[in-house]
Amino acid sequence: MDNTTKIVDRFGREHKYLRISLTERCNLRCFYCMPEEGVKLREKSCFMTSEEVIELAEKFVALGVTKIRLTGGEPLIKKDIGNILSQLSKLPVELGITTNGVLVDKYIDTFKKAGIKSVNVSLDSLKEDRFNAISRRNYFNRIKSNIDLLIENDFNVKVNVVLIKDVNDDEITDFIDWSIIKPIEVRFIEFMPFDGNKWNWDKLVSNKKILETVHSHYGEDYVEKIKDKKNDTTRSYRIKKAKGSFGIISSMTNPFCDTCNRIRLTADGKIRNCLFSNSEVDLLGALRRKQNVEQLILQSIYNKEKQRGGINNFETSDFVLKDDRSMVTIGG
Ligand code: 5AD
Ligand code: SF4
Repeated sequence: MDNTTKIVDRFGREHKYLRISLTERCNLRCFYCMPEEGVKLREKSCFMTSEEVIELAEKFVALGVTKIRLTGGEPLIKKDIGNILSQLSKLPVELGITTNGVLVDKYIDTFKKAGIKSVNVSLDSLKEDRFNAISRRNYFNRIKSNIDLLIENDFNVKVNVVLIKDVNDDEITDFIDWSIIKPIEVRFIEFMPFDGNKWNWDKLVSNKKILETVHSHYGEDYVEKIKDKKNDTTRSYRIKKAKGSFGIISSMTNPFCDTCNRIRLTADGKIRNCLFSNSEVDLLGALRRKQNVEQLILQSIYNKEKQRGGINNFETSDFVLKDDRSMVTIGG
């Protein structure tokens, strides 16, 4: 396969990684991601059908995308998920999925058939009551056992933990202890501001703070740095002799924009060139009007800002992303 991509921005960054959100809906209501009442429902016709998902994915792959991850909302509540996975598995891409884990037991075989190797599960607390309060639903035990099921079936499992001060920041070492006994990668994610999630800098648990906690708990000599992969957003570590590892995704205090290779496609078919940008280009509309989608993809990425959507004075600003999208509609 040709190893070059045509999707390159003004700064020479090559974009080979596409994240497709399959739905804005979710069977959980994590307070930092989703309004309690859910997102405003819109007509079905606003969203990509399975066929359109595949058609758009094929165009991205023809332009050089080599990796696709499905997200949501919760991708596994999309009715046609089995079909989408099997169609995408025919493309020459590495296929992954990010899920809240609730429905994983139903789809283990589908994942295997589609050749998925890597499954990311979001789980923000190891305490049942606390997790159920965060997610406003009662699925803790099911998710926990689904994570075990994935491990037993040899999937590469990453557990995403959004850390929020005074909510779950006392569990950093509990999660890392888990990565010592299980072959999982725990990834701590800095809390990001999205529409309506009451974010402020004080609630953020920084990369620096996490490392201080880890060093003082385990002792610096026991914390090993793992070499990061080229376009990785995670900085990874391991406690000596652990079965698994842990990492930090510091989108807020220590961004990784220089090597960013991500493209996002929202469930309503818009391309977003940066998580922090709110300019979007409507690929679905163009596809339906039989316009030149490839050109729009190339233009959108070419125009990507150098860092964090071009927001100035990032560290000192008290912004919320002024946007009508909660995280659940973008897909992380
Ligand atoms: N800040 C950081 N991460 C978030 N996610 C959802 N909302 C936020 C937020 N405000 C994460 C989820 C999931 C991933 C897709 O995005 O926990 O792991
Ligand atoms: Fe659903 Fe994930 Fe958002 Fe929680 S964080 S509401 S599981 S999409």
